[in-house]
Amino acid sequence: MKKVNIKGKAANVYVYSDHNELYRAAADQVISRLVAKPDLLLGLATGSTPVPLYDILVEKNKEGIIDFANVNTYNLDEYYPIARKDPNSFVQFMHDNLFDKINLPAENIHIPNAEAPDADAEAIRYERELEKTGGVDIQVLGIGSDGHIGFNEPCDSYIYPTHQVTLTKETISDNSRFFDSEDEVPKHAITMGMGAIMRAKKCILIATGKNKAQAVKNALVDDASPNCPASILQFHRDVDFYLDEDAASLIF
Ligand code: GLP
Repeated sequence: MKKVNIKGKAANVYVYSDHNELYRAAADQVISRLVAKPDLLLGLATGSTPVPLYDILVEKNKEGIIDFANVNTYNLDEYYPIARKDPNSFVQFMHDNLFDKINLPAENIHIPNAEAPDADAEAIRYERELEKTGGVDIQVLGIGSDGHIGFNEPCDSYIYPTHQVTLTKETISDNSRFFDSEDEVPKHAITMGMGAIMRAKKCILIATGKNKAQAVKNALVDDASPNCPASILQFHRDVDFYLDEDAASLIF
C-alpha cells in the first residue's frame, strides 16, 4: 500500500496493488466503528465497486465479529421509478448483496422508495429522515466515471438536499451493463444530495479500474468543481480514498 499526499488537499489517499488488501483496509474502517458503536449509522452505495467490501461484512457477521441487530443503514440513491422487486432496483441489489445475508432488521433499512407516487415528495421525506440522523457515522462511496457520487451528476452547482435527478448519457451507458439494453435503464433517480454526504462523520470512497482514473484526478487533484461532484470531498472533514493503481494512475 502507498499513502499519497495530494498537495493542499486533506483527503487520506491509499493506493493498493492488491485488491484483497484494498478491500480489507476499507472494510476495517466499517468493522472497527461497528465494534465500537453497535448502533452504527451506516451509509451505503451500490454498483460493482462496494460488493467485495459487503462480502467481507457478511463474512465477519457470520463469524460473530460484527452484529447488525442495532445498525441503521442509509443508501445513497435509487432509480425512480422502478419496481422494488425489479432485479435492477438498488433496494433489490442491496438485499441480494448484503441485507439478506446479515442480521439487519428490515425496519432499519433506509433507501428512497422506488415506487413512491411523487418523486419530489419522496425526496423531501428521505431528506428529513437523513437530517434526523445528524449525519451517518460512516458513508461508503463509489464514484461514477463522470465523477458522480450517489447520483449527484455533473452540474453547475453542488446540490445539497436529497433530490430527483435526470441521469446523464454516460451514467446510463455505464449502468446499462446490468440491463438487457440501454433503453431499459431508468432515466431518473432519487439521490442523497451533498448535504447528507458532507454531514457524514467519515467517508470512504473506493475506486478501481482505468475507467475511474480521470474522475479520481478531477475529484482529488484538480480544483473542486461541481462538474466533478466527488470533488466536494476535498472539503470533507474526514475522507479516505481507497484506490487501485489503475484508478490512481493520473494522480501521480
Ligand atoms: C452508480 C451509483 C453510484 C456508483 C456508481 C459507480 O451510478 N449510483 O453510487 O458509485 O454507479 O458504479 P460502479 O461501482 O459499478 O462503477
